[in-house]
Formats: sequence, C-alpha cells, structure tokens
Amino acid sequence: MASLHRVLSLLPLVLLIILSAHLGLEAEARKMHNPTKLFVFGDSYADTGNVRRDVGNSWKQPYGITFPGKPSGRFSDGRVLTDFLAKYLGVRSPVPYRMRNWIPRYMKYGMNFAYGGTGVFDTSAPYPNMTVQIDFFQRLIREKVYNYADLRNSVAFVSVAGNDYSFYLSTNGSVEGAPAFVASVVNQTLKNVARIHGLGVKKIAVSGAQPLGCLPQLTASSSFSRCNSTSNTFATLHNTLLNQGLAKLKEEANDNSSIVLVDLYDSFMSVLNHPSTHNIRNQLRPCCFGVSSQYSCGSVDPETMAKKYTLCDDPKSAFFWDSVHPTQAGWRAVYNNLLATHALQQLQH
Ligand SMILES: *[C@@H]1O[C@H](CO)[C@@H](O)[C@H](O)[C@H]1NC(C)=O
Ligand SMILES: *[C@@H]1O[C@H](CO)[C@@H](O)[C@H](O)[C@H]1NC(C)=O
Ligand SMILES: *[C@@H]1O[C@H](CO)[C@@H](O)[C@H](O)[C@H]1NC(C)=O
Ligand SMILES: *[C@@H]1O[C@H](CO)[C@@H](O)[C@H](O)[C@H]1NC(C)=O
Ligand SMILES: *[C@@H]1O[C@H](CO)[C@@H](O)[C@H](O)[C@H]1NC(C)=O
Repeated sequence: MASLHRVLSLLPLVLLIILSAHLGLEAEARKMHNPTKLFVFGDSYADTGNVRRDVGNSWKQPYGITFPGKPSGRFSDGRVLTDFLAKYLGVRSPVPYRMRNWIPRYMKYGMNFAYGGTGVFDTSAPYPNMTVQIDFFQRLIREKVYNYADLRNSVAFVSVAGNDYSFYLSTNGSVEGAPAFVASVVNQTLKNVARIHGLGVKKIAVSGAQPLGCLPQLTASSSFSRCNSTSNTFATLHNTLLNQGLAKLKEEANDNSSIVLVDLYDSFMSVLNHPSTHNIRNQLRPCCFGVSSQYSCGSVDPETMAKKYTLCDDPKSAFFWDSVHPTQAGWRAVYNNLLATHALQQLQH
C-alpha cells in the first residue's frame, strides 16, 4: 500500500519527464535562444537545388558523389556552405525555394532562395538575381508563411561569390573600369542586406569575396600553380568596401542587429596555405575538370555519352571540386577555420 502510494505520488513527475522528453521541451527552450530559421540568398556557394535539373551541372554526375551519393543540385561533390551554416545553427538545411511545395513540412527551417550562377546584378544565368530572390522572400512574409517572431529569431545568409565579376569580365572586361564596378556591386549588396534587415531579420551573415584569383578557372593558365594576383586585388577591394559598408549599416540600424562579414578570403587562404592541417593534399588543382576548355565537370559527349571530364581519385583530399567551387572537404576546412576565428559567434545569440 505504502509503495503503491509512493509510486502514485511520483506519477506526475514521471509523466512530466516522459512528456517533456516526448515534446522536446528542452529543445524548445534551447530554440528560444537559438535562431530557428535560416534564409539564404545568392549563388552556387549557397544553392542546394534551385537551379533546374535539365540545365544545371549540379544535377549531373559526378556532382554529389560524396554526399548524398548522387547529384542533389549542389555545386560540389557533397555539402556546401549553407549546409555547414545550418549545422552550426542547429537547424536542418533549409528547403530550396523551388521545392517548397513538394516538401512543405521543411519550410519551418527557413528557405534557400539562392540560385547558382546569379549575382546582385543580372548575369548570363537565366535565374532570379538577388533583388528578385528577396522579392520571393517578401511575398512569403506578406502571405504570412513567416511571421515577425520567426524573422526576429532567424539568420539570413547572403552569398556573393563573384558571378557579377565573371559576367563583367566576359562582357566589358576593362581593368580600368573594374574598381568602379566593384563599388557598384558592393553598393547593391549593401542595399540588399539593408532590405533583408528591413523585413525584420536581425542576424545577417554576408560572405565576402573569396580569393577569386585562386579559383581553378583563373589558375588553369599556370597549370594550377599560381593564384592570379590581379583578380585577388579586386576581391580584396570588394571586401574592404563591403566591410566598411556593413559596419555603417549596423551602426545606422542601432538595434543590436548582428550584421557580420564572413571572411571567405582569409578562410580560403588560411586553408590553401596550411592544407595539411585539414588533410588537403590538392590545393589549386580541381578534382573534376573538363578535358579541354570547351568542356566542364559533368560534360558528356551528346552522341557517344562519353565523359568529357577527368575525376580525381580522392575528392576528400582536394580543396576545389570544379573550376570555381570547393569540395565538401574544402567547405569543411573553411567552416572549421570560421569556427576557429569565431566568425560566426554573433549569429548564435
Ligand atoms: C533584377 O532582375 C529584375 C527582373 O529581371 C530586373 O528588373 C532588375 O533590374 C534586376 N536588378 C538588378 C539590381 O540588376
Ligand atoms: C565598361 O568599361 C568602360 C571602360 O572601358 C567603363 O567606362 C564602363 O563604366 C564599363 N561598364 C560597366 C558596366 O562597368
Ligand atoms: C556607392 O554608394 C556610395 C554611398 O551611398 C556613393 O557615394 C557611391 O557613389 C556609390 N558608388 C557607386 C559606384 O555606385
Ligand atoms: C589575371 O586575370 C586577369 C583577368 O582577371 C587577366 O587579364 C590577366 O592576364 C591574368 N594574369 C595572369 C598573370 O594570368
Ligand atoms: C540592445 O541591447 C541592450 C543591452 O542588452 C539593451 O539594453 C537595449 O535595449 C537593446 N536595444 C534594442 C533596440 O533592442
């Protein structure tokens, strides 16, 4: 009788423990302090599947060979920066905008509006530029898919990885005009960031330009032995202006917003200069590359279906996957460097 009484008196407590474990109350409590959603804008460094299957190399073999084992719309052999950022924030990698109606239950983790090949201005890629990507976001807010509290606790990630510059070089190409063009790209990026902030997102991570001159498309001419210092100078100028502009935005906002520059230039360089720390053996030579300049990673001969690219033995030991994108191992190394330099800390609280 006495022992039954003890059991009964403990019952509410036991139920509470079972219930709270079941409902994940602890997880809920943690989420109050952690951002609950990730919204992503930009290009192929961030895209996880918005580019259409019939046109994107990201949907061709051997993209995705490391993760998830087949092409998944990511421009890499595996995960990209968005996936690592989501992991850091403790959320699922957000659903690509294009797939929102196919897997609506994932919309609660945020959304990925990034399209490979795009810039802040129009490029040759037939996809929405960043202004239009933010229009999509704004429309979902107007439709009340996301509310004010959602946005306040969210993180936005903005990736501008150089498509504006590739397009500029292929259409205008003037080195004299480049500094003014860099200034206009940064200005437009800042306008976009201010708009995302104005929509209610208080934590915004903006990636700086990576060392553009170290991308395989620019080092191919030196058999992947040397970075192009002219291109790196423009990346540095971009980052200096961006850093100043973001600091000014943060000051003007004056609302404890965290607007942070994710310094991909220093992170890429740190990994490229100390590759063995990250088990990278292959710094500048990409793992997957077209057999000649008219082919790229994923190309096949339309008639014979023969592969028109070469693939390295071990993508895990290469930093670059194709002519412009890091491998999953490359992104992991960059991510670990960002963690070591506390670059992402302000996004968490
Ligand atoms: C973005 O694209 C839209 C629609 O094509 C276009 O009207 C707009 O001018 C572009 N914005 C920028 C900043 O290039
Ligand atoms: C193209 O290059 C010229 C100089 O050759 C420059 O004056 C012009 O502003 C450039 N156009 C753009 C869109 O940057
Ligand atoms: C960029 O913005 C600044 C300040 O808003 C302005 O002074 C400058 O002329 C702009 N530059 C370009 C190239 O648009
Ligand atoms: C570096 O790249 C620029 C274009 O960005 C090109 O004009 C120049 O020839 C390149 N320099 C070398 C040394 O390859
Ligand atoms: C910013 O943070 C400080 C200290 O936590 C707080 O006192 C202040 O009210 C906050 N300001 C805004 C606008 O949220």
